[in-house]
Amino acid sequence: MSQKVVVCGAGFLGSHIARAICSAKPLAEKARVVQLSARHPDRVYKTLSQTLSQDQKTRLVQPVPVDITKPETLAPAFRDASVVVSLVGILHGTPEAFERIQWRGAQNVARAAHNAGAKLVHISAIGANPESELAYERTKGLGEQAVLEACPNATVIRPSIVFGPEDDFFNRFARLSKFLPFMPVFGGGNSLFQPVYVDDISEAVEIISRDDKEIRQLVDGKIIEAGGSDVITYRQVMEIVLKYSNRWRPIISVPFGVGKMQAFFLEKLPPNLFTLTRDQVEQLKRDNIVNTNPGSGHLSFEEFLKKYAEHAPTSAHDILPTYF
Ligand SMILES: NC(=O)c1ccc[n+]([C@@H]2O[C@H](COP(=O)([O-])OP(=O)(O)OC[C@H]3O[C@@H](n4cnc5c(N)ncnc54)[C@H](OP(=O)(O)O)[C@@H]3O)[C@@H](O)[C@H]2O)c1
Repeated sequence: MSQKVVVCGAGFLGSHIARAICSAKPLAEKARVVQLSARHPDRVYKTLSQTLSQDQKTRLVQPVPVDITKPETLAPAFRDASVVVSLVGILHGTPEAFERIQWRGAQNVARAAHNAGAKLVHISAIGANPESELAYERTKGLGEQAVLEACPNATVIRPSIVFGPEDDFFNRFARLSKFLPFMPVFGGGNSLFQPVYVDDISEAVEIISRDDKEIRQLVDGKIIEAGGSDVITYRQVMEIVLKYSNRWRPIISVPFGVGKMQAFFLEKLPPNLFTLTRDQVEQLKRDNIVNTNPGSGHLSFEEFLKKYAEHAPTSAHDILPTYF
């Protein structure tokens, strides 16, 4: 019987993970099939299946809709699953929405994965901290705690900013640079990022989802902070966006206080290209990079990739020019 991997939260990262598993070389293990699940997974299923070869397409089974805030939708979707990849997260919303989705929703997914007897891979974020005053970071931290309580063998992946053709970070700044006469950075733009390539994370998840005892022993119950090969400042993010989109704009520092005032108004509008929240401005005061001295319970993303994918994390400089 083939193994079923449920990709729960079929957006940017989820569709790349599904593609990585569908296109992985068949190993001397049981074949794997992939099922996309989200509230409306049909569009992603259609787009993804159009880009797969005939053989790969047979591994992408019909999607099953779920809403992670409704636990009763999860049990039927996770039936016979051997692996569940939990990906649902939001960037803006009320504190209640963050709690409903990133904390309680993640807990619902973990409990349902546990009941199905499936291995859980949970995607969190660098900065996850149950004590944080910022709803995004706090609920990512509470989500991790709830997940590891329900599934002690879960593997938690905490990416820094993820880049790839459909990303919402570099692409957003590239689009903004078309309209703005200058590129703003808050507080001097000194905070650090370690952008990680979407296909490196997808490859890691593909490897973890194999039915391989040695790999499972290594990753079970571990936290993996995932960063790429470049540590760059917020100002350098703007510089490479402008460089690879062939535009010139002055990069101007705006005080954090002014950014917060702008965000006060912008966060009230429906999500759009200019959406910015006060929490996001606050988050920009902190570095978003891998902790190089994390202690036990953590596993190095770089070493994992080097050992099992036989390459180091990909540089943003190699990929950004291909999609701008
Ligand atoms: N992208 C990054 O740079 C980055 C960095 C660090 C961490 N992460 C984390 O990685 C994860 C994936 O990020 P992403 O960029 O791939 O996000 P994304 O593109 O926004 O995908 C999220 C998916 O979740 C689904 N979803 C939303 N609410 C749902 C619900 N109640 N029930 C079921 N599905 C729901 C959405 O599909 P429907 O609308 O059809 O339900 C969407 O396809 C998130 O947890 C995020 O916090 C991302």
